[in-house]
Amino acid sequence: MGTKLLAALALVAAGAVAWYAAPPSSDGSAALPPVATRASEPRAHPVPGQGFDRAAHSTTDPSSIWVIVNKSHPIEPSDFRPAIALVRGYQVAVPAAGPLEDLLAAADAEGLGLKIASAFRSYDYQLSVHAAHVAERGHVAADQVSARAGHSEHQTGLAVDLVTPADPGCDFDACFADTPAGRWLARESWRFGFVVRYRAGTTAVTGYSPEPWHLRFVGRELAAELHRSGDPTLEEFFDVSGGDYPAAEAGDD
Ligand code: DAL
Ligand code: ZN
Repeated sequence: MGTKLLAALALVAAGAVAWYAAPPSSDGSAALPPVATRASEPRAHPVPGQGFDRAAHSTTDPSSIWVIVNKSHPIEPSDFRPAIALVRGYQVAVPAAGPLEDLLAAADAEGLGLKIASAFRSYDYQLSVHAAHVAERGHVAADQVSARAGHSEHQTGLAVDLVTPADPGCDFDACFADTPAGRWLARESWRFGFVVRYRAGTTAVTGYSPEPWHLRFVGRELAAELHRSGDPTLEEFFDVSGGDYPAAEAGDD
């Protein structure tokens, strides 16, 4: 069964690399003195989304929290490895570590008991993950659920797959979306700076079947803006192509 194989591969990948100390989550803002305004002066009400700077971070640098990695945008350089921190024994990119700790702690407080099943995956490891899928179900079906090496968000360290011991039959399955954990993630993960990256109805854009367990860290600002705007994918928000591999790569592993 592919689920068991993935879980076994994930355990192998979870090697200890660095000790991570969570930074304080304070935004560092101090109370500002009140600004005097005349009673008749109209107050400025910010228009939601209007001040959002879509160019604040790179969407091509693999160390950027806004990087877009998909079938038409591979990670460059292909052997990229992020600076790593550990969360509950799993390797994640440093910027995602504190927020992931916070998300898991909040889920624990809700009694959801979410567990990390997979986090950072190197190019070579993704090669073996994708090959296992190809061996199990063939190239076409494998490409619907697994990224080819160099095309996986997991290589950035910004993506994690979460499972719920309460419903183990839904690990890495579409029915995860209907579990209490899956529903909570869909509703709350943006507050921690994550998005459910492969949502139902987005296959034509992302190139993958829905994965309600695959979270991608994008930072609180972008996650909040996506929540506000309702854009279901990074591709649509940034007007970047996704969908499928370039024709020259069709059939490659
Ligand atoms: N399952 C996702 C698409 C990956 O392999 O990165
Ligand atoms: Zn994933």
